[in-house]
Amino acid sequence: MADNELILESTTLWDFPRQNYGKTSHGNNKYNGVTPAFIIWNLLQRYTKENDLVIDPMCGSGTTIDVAKELNRQVIGYDLNIIRPDIIYNDARKIPLKDNSVDFVFIDSPYSDNINYSDNPQCIGKISCETTEFFDELEKVAVEIHRILKPDKALAWLIGDQWIKKKFTPTGFLLYQRLEKHFKPIDLICVTRHNQTSNTGIWHDRARRFNFYLRGFKHLIIMKK
Ligand SMILES: C[S@@+](CC[C@H](N)C(=O)[O-])C[C@H]1O[C@@H](n2cnc3c(N)ncnc32)[C@H](O)[C@@H]1O
Repeated sequence: MADNELILESTTLWDFPRQNYGKTSHGNNKYNGVTPAFIIWNLLQRYTKENDLVIDPMCGSGTTIDVAKELNRQVIGYDLNIIRPDIIYNDARKIPLKDNSVDFVFIDSPYSDNINYSDNPQCIGKISCETTEFFDELEKVAVEIHRILKPDKALAWLIGDQWIKKKFTPTGFLLYQRLEKHFKPIDLICVTRHNQTSNTGIWHDRARRFNFYLRGFKHLIIMKK
């Protein structure tokens, strides 16, 4: 397949997701930091086939589990904050699976200490992305993901940047640097947020008055073992 055909195919998937999935609910949109299901749907269509084993080491409200089951993939979701019984309690820095046993990993990690996911002190969302420690801990997760993935199989990692108190931290690019120590790059997608709370008159006014950009995207980093 030529490169331009690949691009067309990916555009088609991103443009028409809602017509192709959605028979059941996915995750819980009341969960802090829930991942939009169409992102995972697109990834599973492109990088997996039926019966493949999909892992989400930080699966939160279980969006990956629901989308994977709907697409007839095998799936295991882990988290430290357990809100439903089909999610297994586990710290993503040590995943209880054999080397080279997984077909695809999706992960939407904390991207700083901006959201309180739980009181668990092991939660990486307790560490600010302004510290090296934050990226050291995420790199430990990356090393585990690399270990469990089969050769040539893909990892997709969703992450946002941080701009608080007039200080910008390029969290996505800093994570990218850690990931490329272990994985080969496949793609880097900018996922825009729709219906975002910052897309309101109040925020437009604040942005003009205090001279900042309205941020409305996350990085979707896709790499392979
Ligand atoms: C952005 S949320 C994931 C949202 C999820 N994809 C969904 O759709 O509901 C990030 C998750 O990472 C989890 N987490 C943070 N540190 C972790 C760790 N060390 N091991 C496992 N999970 C962790 C948090 O509990 C939180 O649920």
